[in-house]
Amino acid sequence: MRFQIYRYDPESGQKPWMQEYELETRPGMMLRDALLKIKEQDETLVFRHSCGEGVCGSDALNINGTNALGCLTPVAELKEPVVVRPVPGMPVIRDLVVDMDQFFEHYRAVKPYLIVDDPEPEVEYRQTPQEREKLDGLYECILCGCCTTQCPSFWWNPDKFRGPAALLQAYRFMADSRDQAMAQRLEELDGPYRLFRCHTIMNCVNVCPKGLNPTEAINNIKKLMVKEMF
Ligand code: SF4
Ligand code: SF4
Ligand code: FES
Repeated sequence: MRFQIYRYDPESGQKPWMQEYELETRPGMMLRDALLKIKEQDETLVFRHSCGEGVCGSDALNINGTNALGCLTPVAELKEPVVVRPVPGMPVIRDLVVDMDQFFEHYRAVKPYLIVDDPEPEVEYRQTPQEREKLDGLYECILCGCCTTQCPSFWWNPDKFRGPAALLQAYRFMADSRDQAMAQRLEELDGPYRLFRCHTIMNCVNVCPKGLNPTEAINNIKKLMVKEMF
């Protein structure tokens, strides 16, 4: 199978280039396995990966033009040549490795943890099964960044628009019956950029490897904003 892989080494002084590789693939091979085999041919190729099971979120790549996790992408389903690039809209550190600082800055800004003013309960914060169910489709995010880096609104305003991953997490805590910071969370997202730059293009939904729906979460935040703030 033929692969074309984006290469860039800032220390070499060379411009980025696409490098061709040939690989004998085997049934059931995922793109991450293929990259590991290619690395046996050429140890200078650099990419991130860890769990190999769609859990750690470290191997988001742009594969034939669409973001996906290398470890969950069967090579047999890919059109040849398989073109592998770093996810778009992020500074490239080297080859397929991008700088995720901006992504995690937005994540931290939405305060992705419970904020509770009441005195701490003696044993635990309680939640009914129905309240817990409201977090389904929100808590499963693995922060791979496939959604945010496929979002045109993020490409245009990477420092101002929070992006679908961070907004999904913002809503995850708004939807949590134990959290008491709704007003503060909504206020943080007010203004023309952080939330409202989403134009419902839905690229984020189409690429999420966990089948989550950031667009729905964003719309829910917009509805809460109208209800709670005006
Ligand atoms: S729906 Fe919103 S967040 Fe998702 S890709 Fe489109 S503009 Fe970006
Ligand atoms: S919402 Fe989906 S695509 Fe976005 S970071 Fe979470 S798991 Fe990845
Ligand atoms: S290697 Fe962990 S999600 Fe792919």
